[in-house]
Amino acid sequence: MRAISIEGGKKLRGTVHISGAKNASLPQLAASILTPETILLENVPRVADVDTMKSLLITLGAELEEDSHRIKVKFEKLSTYEAPYALTTRMRASVLLLGPMLARFGVVKMARPGGCPIGRRPINFHLEGLRKMGAEVVEEGETVVARAERLRGARIRFPRISVTGTENIMMAAVLAKGETLIENPAMEPEVVDLYNMLKKMGAEMEWNRDGIHIQGVSQLRGTSHRVIPDRIEAGTFAVAAAVAGEEVEIKGAEPSHMEAVLEKLREAGVEMEVRQDSILVRGRERFFPLHIETKEYPGFPTDMQAQFMVLLSFADGTSTIKETIFENRFRHVAELNKMGTRIRVDGNTAIIEGIDELRGAEVVATDLRASACLVLAGLVAEGTTVVRDIHHLERGYEDFFEKLKALGATIKEEGK
Ligand code: EPU
Repeated sequence: MRAISIEGGKKLRGTVHISGAKNASLPQLAASILTPETILLENVPRVADVDTMKSLLITLGAELEEDSHRIKVKFEKLSTYEAPYALTTRMRASVLLLGPMLARFGVVKMARPGGCPIGRRPINFHLEGLRKMGAEVVEEGETVVARAERLRGARIRFPRISVTGTENIMMAAVLAKGETLIENPAMEPEVVDLYNMLKKMGAEMEWNRDGIHIQGVSQLRGTSHRVIPDRIEAGTFAVAAAVAGEEVEIKGAEPSHMEAVLEKLREAGVEMEVRQDSILVRGRERFFPLHIETKEYPGFPTDMQAQFMVLLSFADGTSTIKETIFENRFRHVAELNKMGTRIRVDGNTAIIEGIDELRGAEVVATDLRASACLVLAGLVAEGTTVVRDIHHLERGYEDFFEKLKALGATIKEEGK
């Protein structure tokens, strides 16, 4: 397993460019299954999860052409309806194949998806929704087989908000017979971006106060679509700049998707200039303590709590972060504490005492966002920090280390 070492204490300055959103690209690539015509996606980040989705599509029958951050997909003929175990278990987002495969080809077989170990992460909402639309879903051990001659529209109310659940049912419904109403849908910008893309493909949809109304059509056409900027990558760099920066400009971001995060940064005392597509962040030594509760969009994202823990360790006083989305998303706490933070977990709340300094240590990345938080901690720590199992980070951040190095960080791949 790969590791990196970070020399702490180097001040970050300059400009960083934000990539396209991983969590928007993944459902959009899956949506290419819905049409035999060409889908052209632009601004797709080069990250491992996108590679996994590309491999899944190719195995199922798609032809892909790639040029830098543009991916062209043409899915004319099905090669197999079985998604390989080794790929589906690699990431949670492989669950996004279920809806489009059933809608277009009427059958799919896959292992339960894997992904970050941040909680149980069941897929019952996805399966129940598809059953309501007439699919026969058989679960045998770790395998799920779903079939449907033609899905039919249904009224589907999510018992709690689910990002990929909403995306999956939306993709299933666009080619179903009749009308679907998705009640209590997720409103994350990535969901809206998929909605916009599906409309360009000819889907008949309307999003109003009751939810997402979808009138199924018999076929969809190709389109081209530019993926929105990654709000979590932008937020991660904003925190990096706040704790370890002099002045960093975060370019190509979409500040309107980041309001909850920007609000918390302001509340912590961070000085920022927010422009239309960039954010200038000025670093500081100390922060005001915060009380954060993770929530569905437009609330504070669960994908940003780990990074904020580093910032709050430099607050004057005690902060709390309550995690309400996933039940096991504090695995970074034990690692951060090895570097001198004083964080304890009580149920779903982390209590963070402000400290004076962090010291370099050897730590292990446990999931994608936890890896990012350990790297941020390494940037401000005294001495050298070694982060092991860094492959988690590459699932979702494009050129993270290169981008940090360009801002002045000293980071080396261990053994190189
Ligand atoms: N849930 C169920 N049953 C389901 C689906 C979800 O009980 O069938 C529960 C989950 O266990 C969780 C809650 O509902 O407690 C919300 O989960 P959600 O379905 O919204 O999460 P997700 O769609 O699996 C996406 C992102 C995550 C992000 C969450 C929350 C993608 C590919 N993944 O996951 O991103 O944390 O929404 O915003 O879009 C990441 O990028 O690091 C990441 C983990």
